[in-house]
Amino acid sequence: MRQVDLHTPEHPLILVTGGMGYIGSHTVVELLQSGYQVIIVDNLSNSTVKVLDGIEKITGIRPYFENVDCLDYVALDKIFIKYIGIQAVIHFAARKAVGESVEKPLLYYRNNIASLINILELMPRHDVKHIVFSSSCTVYGQPKPEDLPVNEQAPIQPATSPYGNTKQINEEIINDTVHANIGINAIMLRYFNPIGAHPSAEIGELPIGVPNNLLPFVSQTAIGLRGELKIFGNDYNTPDGTCIRDYINVVDLAKAHVVALQRMLSDKMEEKVEVFNLGTGRGLSVMEIVKTFEQVNNVKVPYKIVGRREGDIEQVWADPTKANTVLGWKAQETVENTLQSVWRWEQKLKIKREQQIEESKLSE
Ligand code: NAD
Ligand code: WQD
Repeated sequence: MRQVDLHTPEHPLILVTGGMGYIGSHTVVELLQSGYQVIIVDNLSNSTVKVLDGIEKITGIRPYFENVDCLDYVALDKIFIKYIGIQAVIHFAARKAVGESVEKPLLYYRNNIASLINILELMPRHDVKHIVFSSSCTVYGQPKPEDLPVNEQAPIQPATSPYGNTKQINEEIINDTVHANIGINAIMLRYFNPIGAHPSAEIGELPIGVPNNLLPFVSQTAIGLRGELKIFGNDYNTPDGTCIRDYINVVDLAKAHVVALQRMLSDKMEEKVEVFNLGTGRGLSVMEIVKTFEQVNNVKVPYKIVGRREGDIEQVWADPTKANTVLGWKAQETVENTLQSVWRWEQKLKIKREQQIEESKLSE
């Protein structure tokens, strides 16, 4: 196994919070493959330590991992001391379930806001100047028809959930902190709807319990874990009546973080805080996703149309021109390939579940 030495300027050291999670793990792979050294800090509240094996299988490198809660200021401080020379932080760590945030708002406010404050306080203490932050298209709410596709200048709408509110507050905290001139700059990336898995099927999304998001529900239905997909409404003002989103391949999304980091580390930023939409620029309906998934994977997804889900946005998709031109990043993967990667990953998960059952039988 290759373990890169610390303190080598050609392999900058990056702290990735939440790096065991869905988007974080794919980003860690891209960082390692681009020559960065990575320290993951994650409390495993929504991930497992096995993700490290997947990352290692793909890259041949096992990143440093610290099971630390970003709410724990003292423990985080020790990480910055232990791994001296951290060049930048990519801050993924957050809770992200919209429904849960309505039921447990304080859990979300504490976790998502205090974690960021800890990071921002510790960065100048340890002379770390750059942070990339995971924001969300949720900040745009339902844009006016004339604002679609939505660009970074579109107005921020009042949040419709505590989760969404934490992203808005986090953006404000970052803006205020950077403009207080403590020597930090920031890139905030507003993700649209990340989907898919690494083409190797070694890492992917690991929904705990019943998935809220469309794609894990689609693939779990196709594999027989769920009886049928409920499509939330077909009476929207869209061509086929179902909601429209901008579904972005998770590996494409991960690559954008590497590009953002390179921009910061090579002092190319034009403003101290830059915001980029990360999407494909193409809106797809729920029905188009279901039908394409069935077609490219040659499987059936039983579904029924039910009433609208409360709080759902009718349609939103990105204008990614700024990321395309300023970052030089563009989503590359086709939706067909992406939906095939979702299916490969679901099948891999099935094999893993079956292996676990066999192993537990043997140990009885
Ligand atoms: P995820 O839940 O898969 O990953 C988040 C990781 O952070 C998990 O491994 C979890 O264990 C860890 N974590 C949470 N709280 C922590 C804490 N206090 N300390 C240490 N680790 C902690 O989620 P994801 O989909 O990979 O999302 C990553 C980021 O992107 C989040 O900030 C999320 O809000 C944002 N985002 C996600 C989506 C999406 O649809 N997945 C869309 C827009 C924005
Ligand atoms: C997509 C479409 C549903 C499930 C959420 C968060 C948002 C952001 C991304 C982090 C919608 C429909 C879904 C199902 C369905 N996350 N659907 N049946 O709602 O765009 O956004 O994830 O920042 O903050 O709110 O994504 O995947 O839940 O839904 O019909 O079982 O699929 O109605 O139109 P959404 P989603």
